Amino acid sequence: MRLLVCGGAGFIGSNFVRLRLRESEDEVVVLDKLTYAGRRENFHDFAEDPRFHFVHGAIEDPEAVAAVLDGGAAGGAPVQAIVNFAAETHVDRSISEPDAFVRTHAQGTYVLLEAARERDLRYVQVSTDEVYGSIEDGSFTEDSPLRPSSPYSATKTGADLLVQSYFHTYGLPATICRGSNNYGPYQYPEKLIPLMILNALHGDALPVYGDGMQVRNWIHATDFGRAIGHVLEHGAPGEVYNAGGPDECPNMEVVKRIIELTSADESLIEYVTDRPGHDRRYSLSSAKVRALGWEPRVRFAEGLEQTVAWYRENTWWWEPIRSGDYRAYYERQYGRSLA
Ligand SMILES: NC(=O)c1ccc[n+]([C@@H]2O[C@H](COP(=O)([O-])OP(=O)(O)OC[C@H]3O[C@@H](n4cnc5c(N)ncnc54)[C@H](O)[C@@H]3O)[C@@H](O)[C@H]2O)c1
Repeated sequence: MRLLVCGGAGFIGSNFVRLRLRESEDEVVVLDKLTYAGRRENFHDFAEDPRFHFVHGAIEDPEAVAAVLDGGAAGGAPVQAIVNFAAETHVDRSISEPDAFVRTHAQGTYVLLEAARERDLRYVQVSTDEVYGSIEDGSFTEDSPLRPSSPYSATKTGADLLVQSYFHTYGLPATICRGSNNYGPYQYPEKLIPLMILNALHGDALPVYGDGMQVRNWIHATDFGRAIGHVLEHGAPGEVYNAGGPDECPNMEVVKRIIELTSADESLIEYVTDRPGHDRRYSLSSAKVRALGWEPRVRFAEGLEQTVAWYRENTWWWEPIRSGDYRAYYERQYGRSLA
C-alpha cells in the first residue's frame, strides 16, 4: 500500500514510518511542515530507503496535500490511505500560544478530510487520551464522554469530531486511534521523560509540576505505532480505538526512576508551580483494539531503561536541540537556564 503519513518527521510519526518500512511492504510518503518538533534527523536510518519519500509542506495547504496524494510531489503512484499524526503537541505551548493548535488541528484536519473524501481514501486520525479529560478511578473506554481541559486537547477533540462527521455524513472510511502518554527514542526534550533524562545527565534541576502525583498510562512509541497500523488494517470504518500502555506511573516515580538510571542526585528535584488545569490521571481501556489482535509488547520499566540508554548514546540527535532555540523556550518556561 502507498501510505501518506502526515507529521511523520515528529516523534511518534517517525517511529511509525520506521516500523512500516521494516514490518510491511508499504511505500511511505511523509508530508511534514517541519515545525520545531519535526526533524529530518528522525529519518537518518531510512532516508535512503527507495520505499520512503519526504515532502516538506503543511496539512492546511490544499495544494500541497493534493500534490502528494496524486503522486506528483513524491514522484510516484497515487496514495491509498492517509495516517494523520500532524499536530502541535505540547500542552504548555497550547496555553501560551494556542493559535497554531487551532490552525493545524481544525483547518489542517479539514483539508485532509476533504482531500480523502474527493478520492475515497482510507483515513486514520491519530489522537490522544487527553480528549477524555482526567479520571480518578477506572479507565476510559471509547464511549466515555469527551471532556478536554487544555487548548491542546480541545482542538484535538474538535479534529476527532470532524473526522467522525465525515464518516457519518459522507461515508468516508475513517477511524480514530487514541493513544496514552508515549515515550521512547526521538521525543523532543520539552516532554517529561526526555526533559528529565537530559537534565539529569547534565546535572540541571529537574522541574516537577505541583506535587508530582499526576498519573500517566505510559505506552512505548513502537507499541502505539503498531496499534495504529493495526487500526489501519483491521479497524472498522467510523470506529474509535483506544491504545493504552501496560503500566501506569505517577510523574514523581518516573523522575525517581530516571534519577536511578542516570546515577543523578535526588537533590536536583525542584517543585515548580503546577500547570494551569493540569489533569490528575489518564487511563485508557484498550479492550477494543486488543480484540482486533493488538497488544503492547514493552513494559514501562524495560522501555524506560532502553530510552535512557538511547538518549545517553545519541548525543548527535539532541545536542543541536539543546544548544539552539530550545534554550530560550526553557528559560521562558522555567525561569532558569540550562547548563
Ligand atoms: N506524544 C504523546 O504522548 C502522544 C500521545 C497520544 C497521541 N499523540 C498524538 O500523536 C501525534 C504525534 O505526536 P508526537 O508526540 O509525535 O508529536 P511531535 O510534536 O513530535 O510531532 C508532530 C509532527 O507534526 C508536524 N506538524 C505540525 N504541524 C503541522 C502541519 N500543520 N502540517 C504538517 N506537519 C505538521 C511537526 O513538524 C512534527 O513533525 C499527535 O497527533 C498527537 O496528538 C501523542
